[in-house]
Amino acid sequence: MSTTTHATAAGSGRNATATFARKERGTAAVDTARVDAVARDALGALHEVIRKHRLTYAEYDALKAWLIRVGADGEWPLFLDVFVEHVVEEVVNADRRGAVGTIEGPYYVPGAPEFASEGTLPMRAGEPGAPLTFQGSVTDLDGIPIEGALVELWHADDAGFYSQFAPGIPEWNLRGAIRTGADGRYTFHTIQPAPYQIPTDGATGALIASAGWHAWRPAHLHLKVSAPERLPVTTQLYFEGGEHVGDDVAQAVKPELILRPVDNRVTYDFPLDPA
Ligand code: DHB
Ligand code: FE
Repeated sequence: MSTTTHATAAGSGRNATATFARKERGTAAVDTARVDAVARDALGALHEVIRKHRLTYAEYDALKAWLIRVGADGEWPLFLDVFVEHVVEEVVNADRRGAVGTIEGPYYVPGAPEFASEGTLPMRAGEPGAPLTFQGSVTDLDGIPIEGALVELWHADDAGFYSQFAPGIPEWNLRGAIRTGADGRYTFHTIQPAPYQIPTDGATGALIASAGWHAWRPAHLHLKVSAPERLPVTTQLYFEGGEHVGDDVAQAVKPELILRPVDNRVTYDFPLDPA
C-alpha cells in the first residue's frame, strides 16, 4: 500500500523506543549481589564466545559499529523482543496453569478504543484482508466466566504494518479492547493480519542478512487479557498452516497458540490464573 511503503527501521525503531520509555512493567530492585551475578555471567558468556571463535580486531570493531547503529536507529526494543524476550517469557511464566503466554513484542499501546462484549476493531474504509471473527470467553481455572475482564487485541494489517509504528495508518487502526459481561464472552470483528517482516533496512535487518537468516514472523494476533484478582496474560495467536508458523524468527510460537478458523471464524478461551 502506498501509504505504508515508506516504513523504515529507524522510523518504527524510534516509535518503539518512545513507546518503551513510557512503559512500566515494575522496577527492578538494584541488588548488588544480583547485578554482580547476572552481569558477571553475561560478560563471561560473551568472553567465551570471543575465545571460541578467536575474534579479530576487525570483527570487534564491526561489533562496536553495529551496536552503535542499533542504538542510533532506536532498534533496541525490536532487536531484544525478537531475539531475547522469548526466554524471559519462558522463565517468568513457567508456573502458570491457565492461558499460555508468549512475547509481547514492541508494538503494544495501552488505551485502545473499548467495547462491551462485542466490537469491530477500528479500520479504514475498505481495509484490505479477509474478514475474521475472533471470539471466546475469559474464565477462572475452573471455567467459571469472569465478568469485567479486559481483552485487548492489536495486530498488523494485511501488509504486515502496525498503526502508530508505520507511517500513514490511523492512530488506533486494528487496535481495540473488549470488556466482558457476566457471561465472560468477547467477540471481535477484524481482518486477518499478514506475516510480519523485521525491518530489513536497519541494524537488525543487517545482522539477519549478514548471517543468512530470514526476517519473518508468522501472521499473529496480539492479546493482553486481564481481570481483577487474576494474573494478566500477554500472548499471541497464530494460524494453522500459515507461513513461518514453523520457523518464527522470534521463536514465540507454541502449539497451544495455534488457531484453526472455520469460515473466517474462530473461538479461543482464556482461563486466567489467580493473582
Ligand atoms: C517484533 C515485531 C512484532 O510484531 C512482534 O510480535 C515481535 C517482535 C519486532 O520487530 O521486534
Ligand atoms: Fe507482532
